[in-house]
Amino acid sequence: MIPFFRCPSCGSQCQIQAATITCATCTYATSPCDGIYDILTADSLRHHQGFLDQYHRIRRSEKRGSEQVAWYLGLPTVPEDHPFRKEWEQRRESMEWLRKFLAERFPNRTLDVLDAGAGNCWLTRHLAEWGHRAVALDIDDDPRDGLAAGSHVLASLPISFQRVRADFVHLPFVDSAFDLVIFNGAFHYALDQGQLLDEALRATRPGGAVVLIDSPVYTTAEDGEKMMAERAEQGRARYLTIMGLNDLANARGLKLEVFTPSIGFFNWLRKQAAELRRGRELAIMDRIVFNKIGTE
Ligand SMILES: C[S@@+](CC[C@H](N)C(=O)[O-])C[C@H]1O[C@@H](n2cnc3c(N)ncnc32)[C@H](O)[C@@H]1O
Repeated sequence: MIPFFRCPSCGSQCQIQAATITCATCTYATSPCDGIYDILTADSLRHHQGFLDQYHRIRRSEKRGSEQVAWYLGLPTVPEDHPFRKEWEQRRESMEWLRKFLAERFPNRTLDVLDAGAGNCWLTRHLAEWGHRAVALDIDDDPRDGLAAGSHVLASLPISFQRVRADFVHLPFVDSAFDLVIFNGAFHYALDQGQLLDEALRATRPGGAVVLIDSPVYTTAEDGEKMMAERAEQGRARYLTIMGLNDLANARGLKLEVFTPSIGFFNWLRKQAAELRRGRELAIMDRIVFNKIGTE
């Protein structure tokens, strides 16, 4: 158990004893319910309820998640006939990239990693299997698509990780709690990308990094806006742009790295044709690393 919680009420560091988090300064105390620390404040829940209702409705209509434990255990691999097979193939490639990136950048290290916007915890599970101390954080504790779905892997595999229900813009952790904060398909849900990056950096140690994978990246906002206009329903999820990411990094004196996945010649040709048809660029799932300069 890592003593890194910050009191959501007064901001002091908390103590953990027998799984109960207790603030050292005020009266705040909380225990996990079905394995999840619910640290979402009532104000935050009110603020996000509309988003959660809409998100659940959209995800249910897309038939996300499964009744089968085996489905969660297999992620990111899904059956051939799965309606989101292409998407999961993309997620698998990003996961492989992440595995190599961590092994090369932090060789032989057990890292403290926050999976921010973890959903059903599929990536947190792999981070734990790679030997890291992982924490899954999400605002959604849904049993099919949110943190509660993490119970399937925790009950079936010899791994452990913590699950925390909270807003990623108000992380309930002390400064420099993690070596890495990873947003997997989640950073583009930010209402304010600069504010979210600042909060992630606060929780990241010097020498660590904030990593974004599987968020759609466009060269220009014009193409991102065209994509938004094509959507049947305007949810909270938006997009990133290379220029916007550079601005975020430059304004904070950060070193930005962009790793573009290679898609191969034939997929590149298909992408060109689709872009001509649609009259806009198709997003690329660039892998983005904001390096927090300094040494521990
Ligand atoms: C597309 S899902 C990605 C889930 C998971 N990372 C994955 O790879 O499958 C985006 C996630 O971000 C979460 N999210 C959105 N806004 C959030 C916020 N303010 N705080 C915490 N999580 C948030 C959603 O609840 C959702 O689980």
